[in-house]
Amino acid sequence: MHEHSPEQTSQRRADGGASLEDATVAEGPVAPTSVLRLPEDEATVRRDDRAHVFHSWSAQALIDPLPIARASGSYFEDYEGKRYLDFSSQLVNVNIGYQHPKLVEAIVEQARRLCTVQPAFANDARSEAARLIAELAPGDLDRVFFTNGGAEANENAIRMARLHTARFKVLAAYRSYHGATAGALALTGDPRRWPSEPGIPGVVRYWGPYTYRSAFHAADDAEESARALEHLRDVITFEGAHTVAAIILETVVGTNGILVPPDGYLEGVRSICDELGIVMIADEVMAGFGRCGEWFAVDRFGVVPDLVTFAKGVNSGYVPLGGVIISPAIAGTFDEVPFQGGLTYSVHPLACGSAVASINIFKEEGIVEHARRVGAEVIGPGLRALADRHPSVGEVRGLGVFWALELVRDQATREPLVPYNASGADAAPMTELAAACKQRGLWPFTHFNRLHVVPPCTISDEEANEGIAILDEALAVADAYS
Ligand SMILES: Cc1ncc(COP(=O)(O)O)c(C=O)c1O
Repeated sequence: MHEHSPEQTSQRRADGGASLEDATVAEGPVAPTSVLRLPEDEATVRRDDRAHVFHSWSAQALIDPLPIARASGSYFEDYEGKRYLDFSSQLVNVNIGYQHPKLVEAIVEQARRLCTVQPAFANDARSEAARLIAELAPGDLDRVFFTNGGAEANENAIRMARLHTARFKVLAAYRSYHGATAGALALTGDPRRWPSEPGIPGVVRYWGPYTYRSAFHAADDAEESARALEHLRDVITFEGAHTVAAIILETVVGTNGILVPPDGYLEGVRSICDELGIVMIADEVMAGFGRCGEWFAVDRFGVVPDLVTFAKGVNSGYVPLGGVIISPAIAGTFDEVPFQGGLTYSVHPLACGSAVASINIFKEEGIVEHARRVGAEVIGPGLRALADRHPSVGEVRGLGVFWALELVRDQATREPLVPYNASGADAAPMTELAAACKQRGLWPFTHFNRLHVVPPCTISDEEANEGIAILDEALAVADAYS
């Protein structure tokens, strides 16, 4: 690993938990800058944020965003010097950790070489990024359409599927998030879709597998998989298979639960798609690039989708980037007929340069293998031990650095700790749990009645154990409601 290797991290802690300023490239906004004239004090940052920044997904008057001063490895730090171990990887995207020196250096180098050229030109950074991704991609997928993030990737994936099949319906799961542009939000099953309805026409919803809260009253994974596939086939029959362009699914459902599909499910979807001429789209925006301990989560299941969408972990969001990896059959549709889609910043050289560097660093440092091992040997066992001790933990599930604790009021009835989409007083147990984590220096990822454990793929064993020990204390808050 890079500067944040386990040895050096424990060295830092042995030295008395030195501040992040010790790290090689963790100068951050409080360091004096010559060209980049930024405010140096927290008060100015806070004041101008409150006065001028319009934040996403928020009631503007009710929020108080924490100014982050600097970050390094698995930690970020506020202006008072309080360090947080990041068990959320920001929005589950900082897979390589903060301020990886080689990645920072590569971005600086690419910025010096060439910051931008429009997408119609060929360019070394973009062709190398596409080549590397095609080389890693499942099966025979070998072309890449680049976007600026995950939502745009999904928009373009369904556009390709519709043009390729000359059909218009897209099947999407209730328990899903696919992004916040018009089409991606219409595909999204969770409540973030509601305020933007009616969405684009042609989206049809189905239930994916989730054995712990089975929509099919299944008793185990095998039954859940079989019944979920039967249900999917029924939906297609009643919609008319000849009208269905695509089925989109998150290979491992992310924000909506860390739902690892039971054996046979993805293979079953693949064979339904093959039989009925439907395009299979795997949304790996969150699950890909190391998160599941694989380059692509589908690799774990031996399934080759027709389109794979990615973003986040491809370059850990150091520069915005996403894309669609395309099968030869779908790419071929656009050999003689233009693909009607594009973005000014598609295939951006700075973003592509950062993806090239990030992929090479992942390979050199064995980050995918590390994520798989730390999940299997440290995080999984550590979280299961928590489940044994805490009555509020109903289920532990996950793989790689992609885990969820499903919290309940009662392990027998599985009543969720807070209701679906709870807010305000109804969400108090989860809000208090998150506060207890933050107070102890752990930044958690919570969603509805779940606490997700989604640290950087580079997290050391010691850091993972440190975070789990904090969860062990903080869960007392949730236990009090159980
Ligand atoms: C599975 C999945 N798809 C798509 C998106 C949207 O990506 P972006 O926010 O980069 O548009 C996300 C974001 O969290 C996601 O988790």
